[in-house]
Amino acid sequence: MEKYRAGIIGCGSIANAHARGYLGVDEIELVAIADPVKVALDEFKERYNIQNCYDDAREMLDREELDIVSVATPHKQHAPMTITACSSKPQAVLCEKPMATNLGECDEMMIAAQRNNVKLAIGHQRRFLPAWTRARELIASGAIGEPRHIVAKGAQGLLNDCSHLLDMMRYMLSDPQPQWVMGNIERKTDRYERGIPIEDRSAGIVQFDDGAIGILFQELAQPYRQGGTFYGSEGILDLDERRVRLLSTNSQPFGWEEYSPEGENPHIAQARELVEWIEEKVEHRGDAKNGRAAVEIIMGIYESARLHEVVQMPVRTRCSPLEVMIETGALPVERPGAYDIRAFLLRGEEMKY
Ligand SMILES: NC(=O)c1ccc[n+]([C@@H]2O[C@H](COP(=O)([O-])OP(=O)(O)OC[C@H]3O[C@@H](n4cnc5c(N)ncnc54)[C@H](O)[C@@H]3O)[C@@H](O)[C@H]2O)c1
Repeated sequence: MEKYRAGIIGCGSIANAHARGYLGVDEIELVAIADPVKVALDEFKERYNIQNCYDDAREMLDREELDIVSVATPHKQHAPMTITACSSKPQAVLCEKPMATNLGECDEMMIAAQRNNVKLAIGHQRRFLPAWTRARELIASGAIGEPRHIVAKGAQGLLNDCSHLLDMMRYMLSDPQPQWVMGNIERKTDRYERGIPIEDRSAGIVQFDDGAIGILFQELAQPYRQGGTFYGSEGILDLDERRVRLLSTNSQPFGWEEYSPEGENPHIAQARELVEWIEEKVEHRGDAKNGRAAVEIIMGIYESARLHEVVQMPVRTRCSPLEVMIETGALPVERPGAYDIRAFLLRGEEMKY
C-alpha cells in the first residue's frame, strides 16, 4: 500500500504529538521535518529516526512532494507557513491552534487552501477526546434539555488556551455560529506569549445562534482546566479532559452520573481523520472553518474592549484589535518590562524578552 507522505514544519513541543499521531496511523509515513533551529531539528531527527531534515521549510516542501503537512510553529508563523505549504499543493495541511493571530491571516490561509485545492484543518485535537465526544452526544440527545449557559475558565491569554475553550463550547453544542460578543480586557504588564502580545485578564460573553450563551474568564496566573460547565433547561453537564459528570432532572434516582470513556489518543484520531477526509469519507472535525470561528470570537472580545460596545458577527476588523489598542496607547503599561510567558520554550538565539 502506498502511504501518504507527511512532513512537519517546526520541531518543538507540539510537533511530538503530530509525529506520534502520524506514526499511529498505518496509511501515513512521516518522511521529513523542517526547523531553522539546529538543536531542535537534530533532537527530533534522532527521536523519530527521520532522514530528510531541512533548516528551511520551503526547501522541504519543494523537494519532498508531501501529501500531508503539519504546521507546528509559534502562532505568528501559522499563516505564512500554512500559505507556503498550500502553495506546494499537498492534499491536507494540519496547522496548530490558534489558527492565526487575526482574522485577516485566517482568511488568507483559507483562500490559499481553496485555490490550491488543499484540505486545511486546525489542531483543536480535544475534539477527539473520548470524554468530549461523549459529552457532545449526551447534550445532542437532550440530556440537559436546551443548553442555556456555558462557563469556562482559561489562562495564558485568549488566543492560547481559550481558543481550545471556545472551540469546546461550539463542539459540545454541535457547532452553532456566534451572533454577538461582548467583552473586556486588562493589560497593565507588557506580557507576551510566543512573541505575540497578550492581556493580563479578560472576560467574554458570546451569544450562539442556538440560544446558548458562553461565558469565559481568563486570568494568566489562575489554575485552570480544559473543560467547562454546561447548564441546560433540564440539567447540568460538567466536563474536563477525561471525565463527564451529568446531573439530569430526568435521572432516576436523582444525582450525578459519571462517565470516563476510553478511546484512541486524540492526536492519532486527528491524524486518522485527515486520511478519511482526504479520501472524502468524512469532513474533518478540525476543518478550518471551526478554527476560524474560535479566532473570530476572540477578536470580537478584543474589539468589544476597544470600542466599548457589543460586537455583532461577523467581525469585520482584519487585524488584532488588541494590537491596535497597544499601538494607539489605549492600554498603557503600568509595570514596564516586556516578558514572554513561554520564554521557557525558546532556544537561545530566538530569545527576545
Ligand atoms: N493543540 C495543543 O494542545 C497545543 C499544545 C501546545 C502547543 N500548541 C501550539 O503549537 C504551536 C507551537 O507551540 P510549541 O509549544 O510546540 O512551541 P515550540 O517553541 O516548542 O516549537 C515551535 C518550533 O517551531 C520552530 N519554528 C519557528 N519558526 C519556524 C519556521 N519559520 N520554520 C520552521 N520551524 C520554525 C521553532 O524553532 C520551534 O522549534 C503554537 O502555536 C501553540 O499554540 C498547541
